Amino acid sequence: MIDGTKIAIVGAGRVGSTLAYTLATAGLVRTIVLIDADRGRAEGETMDIAHSVSFHAPVTVVAGELADTAGAAITVIAAGAAQQAGESRPALLQRNVGILRDIVPAVVQANPKGMIIIAANPVDALTYAALRLSGLPSARVFGSGTVLDTARLRAELAAHCHVDARNVHAYVLGEHGDSEFVAWSIASAANVPLREFCRLTGISCTNEDMTAIAQRVRDAAYEIIRRKGGTNFAIAASLTRIIESVVRDEASVLTVSTLVEQHYGIQRICLSLPTIVDCAGARRILPIQLSEDEVGRLRNSAEAVRTTAAQAGI
Ligand code: 2OP
Repeated sequence: MIDGTKIAIVGAGRVGSTLAYTLATAGLVRTIVLIDADRGRAEGETMDIAHSVSFHAPVTVVAGELADTAGAAITVIAAGAAQQAGESRPALLQRNVGILRDIVPAVVQANPKGMIIIAANPVDALTYAALRLSGLPSARVFGSGTVLDTARLRAELAAHCHVDARNVHAYVLGEHGDSEFVAWSIASAANVPLREFCRLTGISCTNEDMTAIAQRVRDAAYEIIRRKGGTNFAIAASLTRIIESVVRDEASVLTVSTLVEQHYGIQRICLSLPTIVDCAGARRILPIQLSEDEVGRLRNSAEAVRTTAAQAGI
C-alpha cells in the first residue's frame, strides 16, 4: 500500500458520506477529505465519522474545499442529484453534467496527477463527460459502473445456489442502467460453469430462473429507492473495493465503467467490461469472449449510453 494515501470525496450526501465512513473503517487510507457545496454538512459528517477513530486503524477524516483534492490518489465524485422513486438514471443527466462542469476542471487544476472515479448517475455518460472535461488519460478517469450490479448478481446467485458469494463469478456488463445484462456464458461457481454447477448440486437453473435473477438485479435500485429513498451501503462498499484495488495495486478484475474504443466493434463510449484495476487505474479491459447474443446486448448498451450522452451535448 502507498503510505499516507489520501482520498477525496466530492459530495457529502447519502453515497459520499457512507463511502467516507466505509473507507474510514477499512484501514486502507490515512486521510479522507469530504467536500460539499454545503460545507456545514461535510463538517457534520466528518465530525461524526472522526469520532469513531478509536475503533479502527488511524485515519484523519476532514471537511475541505475542491482545492483540498490536491495530493489525493483518487477523487471520487458522488455529488449531484440522486434518483427519486420511479425516476430513471438518465433523467439526472442535465443536472449532473452541469455539476461536473464545475467540479472536474477544479479537481484537475488542484490535482493533475490523481485519478477521478465517478459515482454519480447516469454513471457511464458522466464518466465519458468527466474524461473529456479532464483531459486526463482514460485509465485515470473511470466510473463505478456495474461493480455494484455485479455485487448484486453475486449476492442473488449465492442465495440461489446456496454457496458463498465469493465462490460465484459472474458479471453484469454494459450500462449501469436499464440496458445492462448478465454475461451468463462466462458465469461460474466453484470454478464450474454455472449451469453445470446447478446440475451437479440439484439446483434449478432454467431460463426463467436466470431471467428472474437478472431482472431483480437490474431493478434493485428502483426497489430500494421506492422503500428507503436512495441506495448507499452497497455502492459505498463497491467504491471501497475499487479504491482498495488501486491503493493496494491488486490488479483485481472489476466491472468499472471505462472508455471502450477497440472492443466488440464499439466506438468511444464509457461502459462496463471486466477490467484490470491497479495503481495505474483502469489499466486494461480484458478481451473476454462473449456469446453472440451478449455482444449484441453490449452494442445495444453502448448505443443507449451514446444517446444519453448526446442529450447533454457530450
Ligand atoms: C444504484 O444502483 C442508484 O445507481 C444507484 O444503487
